[in-house]
Amino acid sequence: MARLPVSLQSLTIQCVALLLAALLNRLLQSPFSYQPALWQLALVQGAIAAGLSHLWRQPAWWPPLHFIFLPAILLARQAGVPAWIYLAAFLLLVLFYWSSFRTRVPLYLSDRKAWQAVASLLPTGQAFRFIDLGSGLGGVPFYLAQRFPQGLFYGTETAPAPWLISRLHAKFKRSRVTFMRRDYATLDLADFDVVFAFLSPAAMPALWLQAQAQMRSGSLFISLSFLVEGRLPDREVSLADGARHTLYAWRM
Ligand SMILES: C[S@@+](CC[C@H](N)C(=O)[O-])C[C@H]1O[C@@H](n2cnc3c(N)ncnc32)[C@H](O)[C@@H]1O
Repeated sequence: MARLPVSLQSLTIQCVALLLAALLNRLLQSPFSYQPALWQLALVQGAIAAGLSHLWRQPAWWPPLHFIFLPAILLARQAGVPAWIYLAAFLLLVLFYWSSFRTRVPLYLSDRKAWQAVASLLPTGQAFRFIDLGSGLGGVPFYLAQRFPQGLFYGTETAPAPWLISRLHAKFKRSRVTFMRRDYATLDLADFDVVFAFLSPAAMPALWLQAQAQMRSGSLFISLSFLVEGRLPDREVSLADGARHTLYAWRM
C-alpha cells in the first residue's frame, strides 16, 4: 500500500473518506434523526480525508489539501463557476505536471541558497559541461551560467510548460543555457562533467544506476535533498536545518 504513487494514495483516501462520511451520515440519522447540510458533510469528509492522509504519512501539504478538496468543489458549484474552468485548470496542471504520475517527481523549485551551494562545488578556471536533470523553470542553469562563463549549461525537462517557459526565458534574456525537452533517461550522462538533480526519492535508484553506468571517472554527480543507496556522498553542504535542504555530491 505504502508504495502506491501519491496520486493513487490520494484518490483512495478521498474515496474512503467519502464512504466513511456517508456511513456516518446514515448512522447519525437513525438515532438522532439529524440531517446534516451538504457543506457539513463535505467538512466531515475533508476532516476524515486529512486524518487518513496524516496516518498514511503523506507529505505535510497533503492533509490540508485533502481537507479543502470537497468543500472547495461545493463552493465552486455554488459560485456558479463555469465548467470550462475545470477543464482549463486540468489542462494547465497536465502541462506543468505532465509525467509526474509515472516519474513520481512533481515540479517544485530549488531556491537561490541551493544554487549558491551548487556554485560552490563547480570547477573554477576550467571549461566544463553542466546539466540539470529535470530543469523545471531553469533557475539552476540560469543562475550558474551567469557566474561561470567557461561552462556550458544544459537543462532537460519532460513537462511541456516549464520547458517552454525556460526556452522563452533563455531566448528573451539571450542566455547561453540550452534546454531540451527530453527524458533524462534517454541521455548519455558521459557527455557532462557535472550532473545536477533535484528530483524525488522515487527517482534516485534508477538515476544512480544510470550515473554509475555512464558518468566518466572524475565527473561530479550532485543531488539536492535526496541521497542514493549504497554510497555515502563525498561532500555534503547543509543549506538549512533538516535533510531536505542538504546538497550531496559524489565524485564518480
Ligand atoms: C523538483 S523539480 C526541480 C526543478 C529544478 N531542477 C529546480 O531545481 O528548480 C523536478 C523536475 O523534474 C522533471 N522531471 C521528472 N522526471 C523527469 C525525467 N525523467 N526527465 C526530465 N525531467 C523530469 C519534472 O517535470 C520537474 O519539473
